[in-house]
This record gives sequence, structure tokens and C-alpha cells, in this order.
Amino acid sequence: MPYICPLCQTPLLQSLPAQSYECANNHHFDIAKEGYVNLLPAQHKKSKEPGDSKEMMRARRNFLEAGFYQPLAQAITNIIDQYLAGIPKPSILDMGCGEGYYSRQIEILAQHGSLDLHGLDIAKNAILAAAKKQSTAHFIVASSERMPYSDGFFNLLLRVYAPSNDNEIKRLLKTKGYLLTVTPGPRHLWQLKEFIYQDTKEHDTQAPLPEGFENIASQKVSYTITPDQEQRMALLQMTPFAWRATEQATHAIQQAKNLAVEIDFILTLAVKN
Ligand SMILES: C[S@@+](CC[C@H](N)C(=O)[O-])C[C@H]1O[C@@H](n2cnc3c(N)ncnc32)[C@H](O)[C@@H]1O
Ligand SMILES: [Zn+2]
Repeated sequence: MPYICPLCQTPLLQSLPAQSYECANNHHFDIAKEGYVNLLPAQHKKSKEPGDSKEMMRARRNFLEAGFYQPLAQAITNIIDQYLAGIPKPSILDMGCGEGYYSRQIEILAQHGSLDLHGLDIAKNAILAAAKKQSTAHFIVASSERMPYSDGFFNLLLRVYAPSNDNEIKRLLKTKGYLLTVTPGPRHLWQLKEFIYQDTKEHDTQAPLPEGFENIASQKVSYTITPDQEQRMALLQMTPFAWRATEQATHAIQQAKNLAVEIDFILTLAVKN
């Protein structure tokens, strides 16, 4: 069983008929009708509805479903195919999976015929949306600060623009398991930033690696997209710098004619030694 109790860390077992998960200490967690499990106890929440709001999740889904980040999904899947090829039914966890776009794409694109796909996010609305669209994957509501899975369960952890905890990453991965991180490269969304900052600078934003991990491959995925007005607004909302945009800058981004925007991702693959 992959899950452990978020309250007492003992293994969670499915009750029969499969309606809930239970631990030896009688803690119960219902399986929602969409198939996901909420393993975020109220006492571990810092706010009533933590994580991205429903509006942010919808904007992200519309933008992603239009295919703008499909080359990234393909690059992620290629790495999975290449590095997990010899492993029967490898387990993969998308940490901070949002509404589950990458998990769905991996299932569609993978050459590896049998993957055990998992996704976790702190936002319940996002997990509900993810579970509704992909019944073959396993989604839970939980924080990446405490991920309620047993030690060494996963072959690969995927971290796409999401918060994470080094100790938890280390605990969840098998020895020789992989951490695949996606971060923005220096030119990412350059043309949006030009509207927002007086002096746009190229930042290199490689995520630091947890101790005991070794980088084994890195790759850039760069191309240009031309989103329409509505999609540009959704894209802006997905960025960490949206809050810096003045009303004037937001309006200018929306009104710009045929604005081509550079996409620049860095994929870093590390192995746990
Ligand atoms: C920038 S979004 C990235 C979503 C998705 N990986 C993507 O690229 O489309 C960050 C996600 O992390 C989630 N999140 C924020 N804090 C979290 C936490 N402590 N644990 C798990 N997820 C968290 C948010 O709800 C949101 O879905
Ligand atoms: Zn328990």
C-alpha cells in the first residue's frame, strides 16, 4: 500500500467495499466518489482552502489544454521512457500536480505501457478536477511538506513549479530513484516581463538539489507561443510575477497584437544515491 496515515504514520489499508482508508489506530479517510483521497487533516491546514484557487486552477487548465506546454510534457515523458524503461510498472508522483495536466499527458504519450501514476496537491479543487479527468491515476489532497506515502515507494518524483521538502523527497524515493525538476530558464515569458518590469533581467533559476542527490542530466526546452488575449491573461495569472503587474501593464498585455512569447524551461534530472 502506498499511503500512510497523516496522523500517526502507520500504513493505511483500504476497507472493503473500498470506501475509505483506515490505519491500525482507527483513523478513517473517505475515498471521494471521484476516486481521490483527502489526506490533509484540518489541523495540518494553515488556511481554509490552501493552495491555488478554483479560478487559478481553471485558468491553468484552459491554458494547458490548449497545448502551449505540450512540448514540455513530451520532454518529461521522454525522460520517463528513457530512465524507467527497464522497471516494471514504475511509480511516479507529480508533487503539486494542480489539475493533473502532466499526469494525463504522461499517460497519453508514454511508450512505457505500464506506469503507476500518482499526484498530490494541497488544493482540493485541483485534485477533484484531476481525479475526474483521469481515473487511472491516484490523486490525494496533501501538502508536499508531509507527503503521506510509505518510505521508498516511488521510482520518480516530478516537481513542476511546485513547493517541495527535501527530507520528504529523500524519504519517498527508492535508492537510485529520480527527481525530475522543471524550472523557468532565463528567457521564460520574457515578453510578458517586459510589460511589467522597468528593467527586465535574465535570471537563472535552477532549483537547489536535496543533499545526497546527484545531477545526471539537464535539458532546455525553448520555443515561442502566440496565445490569444484570453489565454495571455490566463498565462499571466499562472506566473509568480502576476501580482507585480499594474492595471496598466495588464491591460497592455491583453491588448497587444499577436504577441509572441518565449517559453524557456530547464529540466534537471537527479538521482538519489
Ligand atoms: C504554480 S502551480 C503548478 C501546478 C502544476 N505543477 C503545473 O505546472 O501546472 C503550484 C501548485 O502547487 C500547489 N501547492 C502550493 N503549496 C503546496 C503545498 N504545500 N503542497 C502541495 N501543493 C502545493 C498549488 O495548489 C498549485 O496547484
Ligand atoms: Zn492513524
